[in-house]
Amino acid sequence: MTILVTGGAGFIGANFVLDWLAQSDERVVNLDALTYAGNLRTLQGLKDDPRHVFVHGDIGNSELLQRLLAEHRPRAIIHFAAESHVDRSIHGPEAFIQTNVVGTCRLLEAARAHWQTLPEPEKTTFRFLHVSTDEVYGTLALGAPAFTEAHAIEPNSPYSASKAASDHLVRAWHHTYGLPVLTTHCSNNYGPYHFPEKLIPLIILNALAGKPLPIYGDGLQIRDWLYVKDHCTAIRRVLEAGKPGQAYNIGGHNEMTNLAIVHHICALLDKLAPSRFTPYASLITHVKDRPGHDRRYAIDAGKIERELGWKPAETFATGIRKTVRWYLDNPAWVENVQSGAYREWMQQQYSGAAAGEVQGVKREA
Ligand code: NAD
Ligand code: DAU
Repeated sequence: MTILVTGGAGFIGANFVLDWLAQSDERVVNLDALTYAGNLRTLQGLKDDPRHVFVHGDIGNSELLQRLLAEHRPRAIIHFAAESHVDRSIHGPEAFIQTNVVGTCRLLEAARAHWQTLPEPEKTTFRFLHVSTDEVYGTLALGAPAFTEAHAIEPNSPYSASKAASDHLVRAWHHTYGLPVLTTHCSNNYGPYHFPEKLIPLIILNALAGKPLPIYGDGLQIRDWLYVKDHCTAIRRVLEAGKPGQAYNIGGHNEMTNLAIVHHICALLDKLAPSRFTPYASLITHVKDRPGHDRRYAIDAGKIERELGWKPAETFATGIRKTVRWYLDNPAWVENVQSGAYREWMQQQYSGAAAGEVQGVKREA
């Protein structure tokens, strides 16, 4: 048996592939375009593993998709591939429409054609699992109830709008064609192999290098953090027992402000990696806020807990300790990723042309 994973060289996709093959011998065909966010180094442990077939290609390439599906006949598609960074979507939305909307449409069409050729019982058991985000629900006021699956879809950034569009396509392919789809809406992930332009790895690595720790605006925006391995477990569970046509929220019950996250990481680093930059919190620097910055996300994960029996294993305290330890123990991976496009992006976002945009560069004691 085989599953097809898209975006399996990215942060969550690669964690998923590694986790999958650590507990199953079912083959993974991994289709990834290797954008700036794709990193084969994460998968180097699978280099000679016959259970892992890596294919360098775009989900927008219908011909390739058709060939892959005909050749490998997967029993399921787990769709992670996306442009995923909100800030990048603000600078350049088109790539997000191309991959997240057009790419998902092409993948759905290829999946539908493949699914229609399957004999029973494979046709009934086939699944298309679409990995979406809590950001499609928009922003929450302080004290408002957490997002349920019934919450209105109110995306506020080009990224979340493109993900919401892809969610609608997935829903429509089920409703119109009967394709057995599953959609998951997960909160912010963190953990090993996280690309260091997202908040948590950026803070860990900047602190270790003695660089400013950039906090957008007042830093009181709230996110609901989930350790990436818990997300992988949830996806496996939804794939196994989720009901076609249904959406499942996945969250870690860890609502925290960005400032609290950064202070927590700094305190951990003070203990685990003391240096001349200790206390690391002295590097905290408030910079210009993200345009249209959503104030609060919070996930009500009651449905997946009740119906599928999934619960996260890690608290924020245990997950972030493992994550910081991982970055300290894996300098070679970090070194490899901190090159090329990543460096250019950092310059554009935080210095050079953007320097004039940095507001009141204020350091916290
Ligand atoms: P990521 O940016 O780290 O990885 C995305 C991967 O997709 C990369 O390997 C990239 O090369 C690949 N890719 C991009 N465009 C492609 C294309 N056209 N064809 C094939 N491959 C392509 O993203 P991530 O953080 O691992 O997120 C994975 C999925 O989970 C995304 O769909 C994202 O929306 C969703 N999600 C992420 C989070 C989070 O906190 N990171 C939370 C909830 C949901
Ligand atoms: O909620 C799920 C989403 O989480 C996923 O759908 C996205 O793919 C993923 O990138 C993530 O989006 P965020 O925008 O929440 O993640 P990011 O790490 O970019 O930012 C987390 C918070 O930290 C957010 O409120 C912005 C803030 N931030 C981020 C950066 C990079 C800062 O204050 N400073 C920074 O330098």
